[in-house]
Amino acid sequence: EPVQGEGGVHPATMEFMQGLRTFCDENDMLLLIDEVQTGWCRTGAVMSYMNYGIKPDIVSMAKALGGGMPIGAICATAEVAKAFTTGSHGTTFGGHPVSCAAALAEVNELLDRDLAGNAKKVGDYFTAKLEKLPHVKEVRHQGLLVGVEFDDTIGGVDVKHGCLDRHLLITAIGAHIIRMIPPLIVTEEECDKVVAIIEDTIKSLEK
Ligand SMILES: Cc1ncc(COP(=O)(O)O)c(C=O)c1O
Repeated sequence: EPVQGEGGVHPATMEFMQGLRTFCDENDMLLLIDEVQTGWCRTGAVMSYMNYGIKPDIVSMAKALGGGMPIGAICATAEVAKAFTTGSHGTTFGGHPVSCAAALAEVNELLDRDLAGNAKKVGDYFTAKLEKLPHVKEVRHQGLLVGVEFDDTIGGVDVKHGCLDRHLLITAIGAHIIRMIPPLIVTEEECDKVVAIIEDTIKSLEK
């Protein structure tokens, strides 16, 4: 995972990702990258590994690939793909025509509208605003995969519930962290509204 999502939104460093590629090359190992959460424009590039100037041997993807429809996929280099023969990696619903049609439409939309570019631009804007909020210890992000870590006085779950009461859906991970994965079409104006709701929530939680 180039960005640990469930682990608290921790983007891997350039040194780590490039070091992994070099390590695998030197030791005749395959590098598999999990882009289930980070893939398809979420991180400001089509795939997060592209932010690091490396290429994996196999990459897994899901979530944004289907734009809400259930589908997952793996891609491999031509060399590695030789090991996959027809039928050797079947799944119950694998290759479902409706999901595949939705994914094709989704991928065209993501690329034609440069939603990776939007994720980068709006992600930078959003996080710069979040950094200025009270009790914020650190904001970590890559594109529109955003984590906000608060100081010890603010609980992540309390912020989540406070935001829900104010009609904003976010999630909490760990004791003091919230994670946000907004739609890739989100605008700066919508981010302003989100920041205002979070600020209001934090103030209501101050002891
Ligand atoms: C990074 C990552 N990898 C894998 C998975 C599991 O994917 P799936 O539920 O499609 O098997 C998830 C699910 O949230 C994920 O975030």
